[in-house]
Amino acid sequence: MPLSVSSAEAAIGAAAVVAAPFAAAPRGAVPIPRYLEQVYWWAYVHPKAVRLFEREWLVNLILFGNYGRLRDAALDELGETISGRTMQLACVYGNLTPKLRQRIAPDGSLDVVDILPIQLQNLASKMPPDERVALLQGDSSSLACPDASYDQVLIFFLLHEQPAHVRRGTLAEAMRVAKPGGKIVIVDYHRPVRWHPLRLLMTGVFRKLEPYAMDLWNNEIEAFLPRRVKPTSVTKETCFGGLYQKLVWIR
Ligand SMILES: C[S@@+](CC[C@H](N)C(=O)[O-])C[C@H]1O[C@@H](n2cnc3c(N)ncnc32)[C@H](O)[C@@H]1O
Repeated sequence: MPLSVSSAEAAIGAAAVVAAPFAAAPRGAVPIPRYLEQVYWWAYVHPKAVRLFEREWLVNLILFGNYGRLRDAALDELGETISGRTMQLACVYGNLTPKLRQRIAPDGSLDVVDILPIQLQNLASKMPPDERVALLQGDSSSLACPDASYDQVLIFFLLHEQPAHVRRGTLAEAMRVAKPGGKIVIVDYHRPVRWHPLRLLMTGVFRKLEPYAMDLWNNEIEAFLPRRVKPTSVTKETCFGGLYQKLVWIR
């Protein structure tokens, strides 16, 4: 069923549809968390940040040439043609979402939730109008949509940027909104092997710029799930000397 603005809003509850090319003006805005304003203003909040970082070569450089590989690993996990309802938690720079959109089945839908209107607007500028896609302002750790309402949830390089309590909320929400048997695909940093040539550099980068990222080196991502919540299956793969991981959870 084509996703109109009003049905998208109904799907996500109180969150506002802010940036789909066919969407209404913002309303009921969700407050911007302090960690984004204080720690990541330079990467996501400031308008100059969007102009600076929205370059595929730069995103690829930040991931040491692994952007395409990680993006395609996430997309392939969701399928060549993606049926049902898909949620992507948080916008990303680069072409992940445009490529995800191309895989959405004619009767499927894609909801992208991000807390920053500027990021949603940037994503809208990279996407052609598409009734199956809704760009929604909302907090990944407190989604205002019903339980068991998505067939798949994608979380791409979001968790390392969230303080532990927000990360816990995001993962709990991903499990809550996924249907039983639904898939949650997570791609993010991971503790590299001891001799990794970039280990020292990444430690410095995390210390200076990404204060919550080391958590993903020191813990399995499942450790941030509420104790009572367990995926029925977990598949984990790492690549590039263990610096990156892809997790697939089946709810
Ligand atoms: C997915 S992460 C970073 C991904 C990657 N480094 C890239 O290339 O963009 C960045 C996005 O997460 C969003 N974000 C951070 N915390 C959020 C939250 N609690 N709820 C929804 N979106 C959030 C930010 O607004 C930003 O657009």
